[in-house]
Amino acid sequence: MTTIAIHNGHVIDPALGQDGIADVVIVDGRIARVGPGEGDAVIDAERIDATGLVVSPGFVDLHTHLREPGFEGKETIRTGTEAGARGGYTTVCAMPNTMPALDSRAAIESVLREAEASARIRVLPIGAITVGRQGKELTPQGELQAAGVVALSDDGDAVADPSLMRHALEYSTRFNLPIAQHCEDPSLVRDGHMHEGWVATRLGLRGRPASAEETMVARDIALAELVGAHLHICHVSTAGSVALIAAARERGARVTAEVTPHHLTLTHEEVAFADDYVHIRYNTNAKVNPPLREEADLEALANALRDGVIDAIATDHAPHGVNDKAIEFDLAAPGLTMLETAFGLSMRLVHEGRLSLPTLIERLTIGPVRTWRLDEIPGLQGLGTLAPGALGDVAILDPDAEWTVEPEAFASKGKNTPLGGKTLRGRVVATIANGQIVHETERMVAL
Ligand code: DOR
Repeated sequence: MTTIAIHNGHVIDPALGQDGIADVVIVDGRIARVGPGEGDAVIDAERIDATGLVVSPGFVDLHTHLREPGFEGKETIRTGTEAGARGGYTTVCAMPNTMPALDSRAAIESVLREAEASARIRVLPIGAITVGRQGKELTPQGELQAAGVVALSDDGDAVADPSLMRHALEYSTRFNLPIAQHCEDPSLVRDGHMHEGWVATRLGLRGRPASAEETMVARDIALAELVGAHLHICHVSTAGSVALIAAARERGARVTAEVTPHHLTLTHEEVAFADDYVHIRYNTNAKVNPPLREEADLEALANALRDGVIDAIATDHAPHGVNDKAIEFDLAAPGLTMLETAFGLSMRLVHEGRLSLPTLIERLTIGPVRTWRLDEIPGLQGLGTLAPGALGDVAILDPDAEWTVEPEAFASKGKNTPLGGKTLRGRVVATIANGQIVHETERMVAL
């Protein structure tokens, strides 16, 4: 029997409405007891002193690119889940834009077997909506669900054909699977590589307009309402999308949404470096799809996250190699490595007084779980909470600790972040997944 006792932390469990000083006891991979002094009652425990720290359920990411199989040079299940552990994550949902794409039982099984062998935290695969993510033919949804997928997505690309999308949504109602759409109309973003706005004009780069996202959000909401399916909007990035989602939810549509830490906090100005008035350079590490937008969008996203119009923070952790980024902007791969900076970056909203810490934790834990009903899946009951009997997944956080982002020190193979050298306030001190300590910044003080 292995027992971990976390003493005297500020326990925040939004699922239970808990917010106060308590001990958390984990026995054999499950939460056993939570309450003041509960840790003192157990013997033979590994003890962690969490005085002055926040203790929350482990984070759950609905949107992680682990790159395996096929792109192991960018990331592996091992390195990606190690990055997740360092970021406070205990569950990540793995996107299917691998090689081969996760469009068959065999591909899903291979991911689950590799995760069993090498993952540091729980990996839940997402299946592709279309065969090979080619946008032409639907995948066998029932077979993928039986193999273990928790949602379907062609992320990286949108399902462009409206009729095919309608059928994907209609088919998904048979299995109650969320269809997670990357909303950017390909014909409107073609040749565009950053947000269509003044920075793109200055840099001489073609833009991707906000309307490319919004037209597809509107279209897919209409299709989801037509057939009564669960549509999930990936990485919402514009104020217009927020308004569409809010109105759809008001009507009772089954529409959920996620936002990334970077779309919440960074604008398109991140793409440009100005040495002086004449020499403006670009930063490919700020290239991402959908692109970083404008101040007004950030404001709308933060408000929507606070109000629950957006259900979850998802990282869109998208690791790439140095050579994918150290090239011309148009040719550079889009995406940011994010698992290890997600908490610190999102904490900006809390420190600016725009989001409460319990709400932030909700959007990182039980929020995503409820969004995709993950806790209804056999074996995942008690995901995202510290209720007795729940899975032994815990993040220990220091909301005020300042640290400097050093990409070279990331566990992720992807060093592609525009945050290198920047200071973040909010640090993950330790992570416990399934009752095992998978990350700790320094040996925690044993009592
Ligand atoms: O910037 C992005 N990169 N957006 C996506 O949707 C896909 C991702 C990737 O896989 O690199």
